[in-house]
Amino acid sequence: MKKILATISILLATTATADEYDTVAAKWRTCAACHGNNAQGKPGFPSLNWMEEQVIIEALVDYKQMITRGDMSGIMFGQAATLTDEEIELMAKYIKEVLKND
Ligand code: HEC
Repeated sequence: MKKILATISILLATTATADEYDTVAAKWRTCAACHGNNAQGKPGFPSLNWMEEQVIIEALVDYKQMITRGDMSGIMFGQAATLTDEEIELMAKYIKEVLKND
């Protein structure tokens, strides 16, 4: 766990450029089916744009390790598995910095 946290803080120190978002922007289309185009949520699916960036990362890292966070975490296990650690980091930034302005 300490190692994971250390990795996350290193990743947080890196900055993203518009091009770097390309991959996660494409992957977000799948996420948007449940979470809404602007991560505002849909009936039965949580909104994400109110969450702290670190908490989004934490949730996706947990889901990737198949750690249960809520009643419907099973839905997210397969979703998080499609993201690399770097993409999890970028996805959180994308949700907070790009989607909220759309
Ligand atoms: C099939 C519908 C579906 C898709 C597609 C989906 N999600 Fe989710 N997502 C959910 C559900 C349902 C939950 C609540 C899971 C739980 O109970 O732990 C959730 C939870 C989350 C959470 C944590 C929310 C919280 O309140 O703690 C994050 C972050 C998240 N999803 C991000 C994503 C990302 C990023 C993608 C695309 C890679 C994605 N989701 C794709 C349905 C989906």
